[in-house]
Amino acid sequence: MAGRALMRDKGQSLRRSRIAAAILTGVLIGCVFAFVLPHGLFSSDQPIQNRRIGKSGLQAFSSSCELPERINMIKSDIASLSDKNAELNKQVKDLTERLRFAEQGKDHAQMQFLDMGEKHKAGPFGTVKGLRTNPTVIPDELVNPRLAKILEEVAIRKELIVALANSNVQAMLEVWFTSIKKVGISNYLVVALDDHIEHFCKSNGVPVYKRDPDEGIDSVAKTGGNHAVSGLKFRILREFLQLGYSVLLSDVDIVYLQNPFDYIYRDSDVESMSDGHNNMTAYGFNDVFDEPAMGWARYAHTMRIWVYNSGFFYIRPTKPSIELLDRVADRLSRDKLWDQAVFNEELFYPSHPGYDGLHAAKRTMDMYLFMNSKVLFKTVRKDAKLKKLKPVIVHVNYHPDKLSRMKAVVEFYVNGKQDALAHFPDGSQ
Ligand SMILES: *[C@@H]1O[C@H](CO)[C@@H](O)[C@H](O)[C@H]1NC(C)=O
Repeated sequence: MAGRALMRDKGQSLRRSRIAAAILTGVLIGCVFAFVLPHGLFSSDQPIQNRRIGKSGLQAFSSSCELPERINMIKSDIASLSDKNAELNKQVKDLTERLRFAEQGKDHAQMQFLDMGEKHKAGPFGTVKGLRTNPTVIPDELVNPRLAKILEEVAIRKELIVALANSNVQAMLEVWFTSIKKVGISNYLVVALDDHIEHFCKSNGVPVYKRDPDEGIDSVAKTGGNHAVSGLKFRILREFLQLGYSVLLSDVDIVYLQNPFDYIYRDSDVESMSDGHNNMTAYGFNDVFDEPAMGWARYAHTMRIWVYNSGFFYIRPTKPSIELLDRVADRLSRDKLWDQAVFNEELFYPSHPGYDGLHAAKRTMDMYLFMNSKVLFKTVRKDAKLKKLKPVIVHVNYHPDKLSRMKAVVEFYVNGKQDALAHFPDGSQ
C-alpha cells in the first residue's frame, strides 16, 4: 500500500512538474512573440485569417499593444511559477529521501506496512514472519513549529540523538558532547532545562533547544535531581515523535566512541541498551524456580531479563512508541516512581484480565557495543580479547563517580592509555 501510494505520489508530482514546465514554456514563448511581433501572429495583410479569428482575436491584438501591462502580468506569473517550482523541488527532495530509504531496504516499516494491506496465506514452513515494524505516524508540524524547524536542520535521515541537561550535569555534558563531536556526529541536540546550559551549549557550538515556558515541567527541570529529570524526558520526547523523528535518547553520563546510527536496526518501536551483564541477563533466560514441596512439579519456569536502560534507547515515531511515552509519563505524574522501572513494566507486562498491555516491538542492543559500566568494569577490562573490542558507546550507569569514570573511558578507548581503567573498583564500594 505504502509502495503504491509512493508511486502514485511520484506520478502526481511528475505530472504536476510537467504541467508547470508546459505553462512556463508557454509563457516564455508568449513573451518572445510579444516582443518580436507586437501586432500578433497574424498581420493585417492576411484579411481572411483575420476575419476568421473574429472578435476574440481582435481583443488579443489590441492587448498585445499594452506591452508594459503584459510584462507586469508575465512577471507576476513567473514569480508564482517559481514559488510553485520551489514547492515542487521540496517535494522531490522528500520523495528522493523516502525512495532512498526504501531502496536501502532499511525502512522495514514501509515493507511490513505493505504486508498489512492485503490478506495473505501463511506460506511454507519456516518462511513466515510476524509484523514487528510498525508504520510511522504522519508528521504534525503544528505541534511545535519552532522545534520542527530546528529538527529539520539538525536531524539526518529523520534521526537524531537527544539529551536533556540542566546545570547540575554540566561537567558530564561537556565530556558527552566532546566525545560526540570527536566521532563526527552532527545530528544531536541538547534540550536545555535552564538558561545557563542553553548558553553553555551555544558558546560551545552545540545544537541546543530550550522549550517554551511550561509551569509543570519547568520547576522539575531547573531543580530536579537525577530521577525527576529522567521522568521529564517522556513528556518532552513526545513532540519529537509527533514531528516524525526517530530519537536516540541519551543520558549525559555516556561516552561516544563510534556513530551509533551505524549500529541501529530500526526494525522495532524501541531498541534499547540493557542493564544486563552477560548473555543471559541481557538477552533473557528461563529461570527455573524450585519448590520441592510440589514434588513432581517442583520446578517452575520463569522468564527473566535484566531491565532495559531508560537512559539510552532508540525510539521510532510509531503509535506504540507514543503510547509508551504517554503511559510512562502518566504513571510518573501520579505516583513517585522510578522512571526506569515504569518504562520496563509498560514495555514487558502482557495484557491480562483488567489490563491492556502495550503491544510494542522491542529489541535489545548488543551489550558489548552499547556497553554499560558493569560490563566494562566487571568483565571487559579484565579480558584480553574483550578489551580489544571498541564499543559504540559506554554508559556509566552503574557507578556514582560518573565523571572520573567517563574521563577514564576516554583515556582508555580514545587516547589508548592501557591502564586508565585499572585503578577503579568493580563496584562503588
Ligand atoms: C554469548 O552469545 C554469543 C552470541 O550468541 C556467543 O558468541 C558467545 O559465545 C556467548 N558468550 C558466552 C559467554 O556464552
